[in-house]
Amino acid sequence: MTDRTENETKVTSADGRDVDRAWEQLAPDYERARTREDSLDRLVEWPAQREILGDVTGRSILDVGCGNGGKLAELVGDGAVSSAGIDNSGNFIDPESHDLQLINADLNELASMRELTGRTFDRIMFLQSFGYATDPVRTLTTARSMLTDDGFILLTRTQPIRYALERAEKNDTSLGEEYFSDSSYTYRSGWNDQIALTKRTYTISNLLNTFSAAGLWIEATVEPQLSEDTARRYPHKQAWMNRYLGILIFKLRPLPERQTAGAQ
Ligand SMILES: C[S@@+](CC[C@H](N)C(=O)[O-])C[C@H]1O[C@@H](n2cnc3c(N)ncnc32)[C@H](O)[C@@H]1O
Repeated sequence: MTDRTENETKVTSADGRDVDRAWEQLAPDYERARTREDSLDRLVEWPAQREILGDVTGRSILDVGCGNGGKLAELVGDGAVSSAGIDNSGNFIDPESHDLQLINADLNELASMRELTGRTFDRIMFLQSFGYATDPVRTLTTARSMLTDDGFILLTRTQPIRYALERAEKNDTSLGEEYFSDSSYTYRSGWNDQIALTKRTYTISNLLNTFSAAGLWIEATVEPQLSEDTARRYPHKQAWMNRYLGILIFKLRPLPERQTAGAQ
């Protein structure tokens, strides 16, 4: 069932859950903004993500919440193989390689996706999409089970302090009150101010505890910043970063299976 208001689209699934379909409308605006010359994704985030991925030649990659698939297509162009992207906005580029499969599906169904049955991946990416997992520990645990032996997960999230500061500015409250508030947060993104996104708030400890609960350890964390040269060329972006900090990037590896009590 679809109930469309001017600004939001709510869809109710067969089991009665409210499914937020804002991204079906937002996807083209997001991709337009992402590919702008001065987008932070282009200037800071994607270069930092690529650096952590390293050489992808011969690596299979799963991109969860892949947007239009453009980032994954770039990785396949650079040698990645047998790769798949999942997104439920249905706004995909034409996959021009048999090593690139783009699947219109809900990332919350990762465990039961027919296209992924029995497959493993060297790299699994959640680039600004992890916040859409309704059961974050379950989703990460499933992803962990799909990693090859030396595989890792690359996961990025917006600094939660950014959202807390935005709410404090809007509500005339304090940073701490908003950072530790657990009510959900509805906001209109800069990509299209007609479409509202609703997010659950989170703290750094929520995030770290989620990784632990999913049996993952953090090999590296990066808080990417503009280079001096880029900051000079795009001072408005440096001013934004000075205020709102940017994103966190985590490289996550599976913890060794826990020994059961009494095991040798
Ligand atoms: C901020 S965009 C990030 C896109 C891409 N990963 C990137 O780095 O450019 C978030 C993406 O998550 C997708 N998404 C949101 N909820 C989803 C869900 N339940 N299942 C699959 N994809 C979802 C959206 O359609 C959108 O493409």
